[in-house]
Amino acid sequence: MKDKTETMKLWGGRFESGPSEVFQRFSWSLHFDRRLFGADIRGSQAYARALARVGILQDEEARAICDALASIPEPPADAPDEDIHTYVIRLLKEKAGGLADKIHTGRSRNEQVSLDTRLWLRDEIDRTTALLRGLMSALLDFAAKHTDTVVAGYTHVRRAQPVTWGHYLLAYFEMFARDHERFQQARTRVNRMPLGSGALAGSGFPVDREGIATELGFDGVTNNSMDVTADRDWALDYLSAASVCMMHMSRLAEDWILYSSDEFGWLELGDGVTSGSSLMPQKKNPDSLELIRGKCGRVFGAYTALFTTMKGLPMTYNRDMQEDKEPLFEAVDQLTMTLEMARGVVETTSLKAGPPQAAAEEGWLVATDLAEALSRAGVPFHQAHQVVGRLVLDSVKQGKKPGEWTGEELHAFDARFTPQMAALMNPAEGMKTRIARGGTAPETVRAALAEARRRLETMS
Ligand code: ARG
Repeated sequence: MKDKTETMKLWGGRFESGPSEVFQRFSWSLHFDRRLFGADIRGSQAYARALARVGILQDEEARAICDALASIPEPPADAPDEDIHTYVIRLLKEKAGGLADKIHTGRSRNEQVSLDTRLWLRDEIDRTTALLRGLMSALLDFAAKHTDTVVAGYTHVRRAQPVTWGHYLLAYFEMFARDHERFQQARTRVNRMPLGSGALAGSGFPVDREGIATELGFDGVTNNSMDVTADRDWALDYLSAASVCMMHMSRLAEDWILYSSDEFGWLELGDGVTSGSSLMPQKKNPDSLELIRGKCGRVFGAYTALFTTMKGLPMTYNRDMQEDKEPLFEAVDQLTMTLEMARGVVETTSLKAGPPQAAAEEGWLVATDLAEALSRAGVPFHQAHQVVGRLVLDSVKQGKKPGEWTGEELHAFDARFTPQMAALMNPAEGMKTRIARGGTAPETVRAALAEARRRLETMS
């Protein structure tokens, strides 16, 4: 490791000797917080201009500082600095000389790191929510092809009631729409400007906090300097939203791993998102989906890591909080890749015609429709439930499928069945009654799809 004593100048005055080699390796963060480089430059430029507005810097001085900041390159791999803030100041001194000493007037890294992380995260939220909207749009395109396609719906992984494939896909659209909302809510808490908080007690200089906020696109300024330097709950809000979104993608992945299996045979996954086996020539494995499911655990881990780090920290800043960044970076990276992959899978998957239809026709999914028809004809629901239960038991014993019952046979089985009720043995029939908002009747699904498209257009 390079000798880093040269970098001590941000805080070296009180020390007679520099940090030990192991302490440097243990505590210095430039190898990861270099990702905040762009944010640190933007934030420092805004701070210089704010200092000029209150006369701490001359206008020309502020301009020279901003120009010098703009000319600083990304930190090289062997930069000998403690963190990104120290690196930027060192380079600023190289470029702007003594002027650079003024930029830190009233400013602490404790607020600077909050500013940089917020700026960076806000941009990442905007980027990842755009990817999320892309995934949602792909789901709607798939749903549009299948507003009327009947498949089996499951509870307990047992065939339950017929639904349309479009209705199933719109369920995921709703989950992702709430994720989108959660990311936007996290953004409103991230997007508050913390500079002017100092190390913990607030700035001793009349910095124009609102001006900095406006220049950097924040919604407003933070209210309390101790709160700023002590908390990272806004990062936890993001990690929580990211975890829930990953959980939703993981469940979609799990469904499709099952539905594309030989046992289900419903879905054909695109060649571009599947892998072969080095040994078994016939294999077409759903690795993309398995990795979506697998990466979910990493994001939960990031959330748990920061949550655990924050628990029990005394007021205000503690160096433990430097541990916020790697989990955040990890979560953003995994979420980004997973959103891209999930969209790629959705766009290249197709629903096969035979097996999902057969699953809906053969498994007595129509039992509820029959019981409800009896109930509509005046049979109290509990009795209707019993009658249909006996019909199913009898059929299972005989090996008779729903579609093999004629109207006459049905009426003969129990006179409360009318011969017309045999039409309900077709799963597409009973489905038509589920027109209450949120239900799976094809016309309701078509309306829900149109509504979902309108909603997606208004999201940003
Ligand atoms: N690298 C530090 C962090 O990420 C910056 C703040 C350092 N402040 C301090 N008092 N050591 O939290």
